[in-house]
Order: sequence, then C-alpha cells, then structure tokens
Amino acid sequence: MGYRNKDHVVLEDEYKKLSDKYFISTDDGSAGYKGLVTDLLEKELQEKSIDIVYACGPTPMIRKVMELTNKYDTKCQVSMEQRMGCGIGACLVCACKTKAENEDGWEYSHVCKDGPVFWSNEIILD
Ligand code: FES
Repeated sequence: MGYRNKDHVVLEDEYKKLSDKYFISTDDGSAGYKGLVTDLLEKELQEKSIDIVYACGPTPMIRKVMELTNKYDTKCQVSMEQRMGCGIGACLVCACKTKAENEDGWEYSHVCKDGPVFWSNEIILD
C-alpha cells in the first residue's frame, strides 16, 4: 500500500488482518518505507516467487507495476481507474486502449463494461 504520508493511510488494521504480509510506503517516510510502493514490489519480486500481482491506483504506478511484473514474468491484473459517465458502455468516456487481433493491434475497451479489471498484458498505456 502506497500513500502520500501517514495522514492518508486507511484501513491499516483491516489490511493487516486480511494479509499474510502487509507493506506500506509513504512519499515522505512518515509511515513505513520512504519511497514508492513499487520499490517494495520490486524487492518482493526479486526475492520470492509471486503467483500474481493485483494492482489499482494512479496510471504512473500501474505503468511501473506492469513493467515490473513483465520483467519478473509474473502474472498481473490491474483495476483501471477511468472517469465514467453512463456505466453501461454507451458514452465511451471510460475508453482505454487494449491489445486486439486486428490491423492496428489495438482497440478501445470500456472500463465500465469490459473491466474494470484487466490482465496487465492486455492494456496499452500511452
Ligand atoms: S462509462 Fe460510459 S461507456 Fe463506460
């Protein structure tokens, strides 16, 4: 779990109860590791065999998680955060690029209808 600082930490007790291990990072080091949560992820991926990574958060973090899980050949699912309008696949506000077997090699998917969770190797982040 990565946060800006200790004041932004939420549900710590609940996450601890539900996790074998619980790691936390903050940008300023006021709680847990000082630095990016993806630093902690890379350390885990280097040291252990991880079955799968589930990630949600801002796009730059998702991009790094995708890069790391690709580098360490680890399966990964990401929950895409997109602005939504209709929520039923009609307005296209939530479109994101995904790989496709067509001439262009990609298409737009609807986060609301096709996701919000995608395999990381399906997503194209420009
Ligand atoms: S929110 Fe309208 S298409 Fe997804």
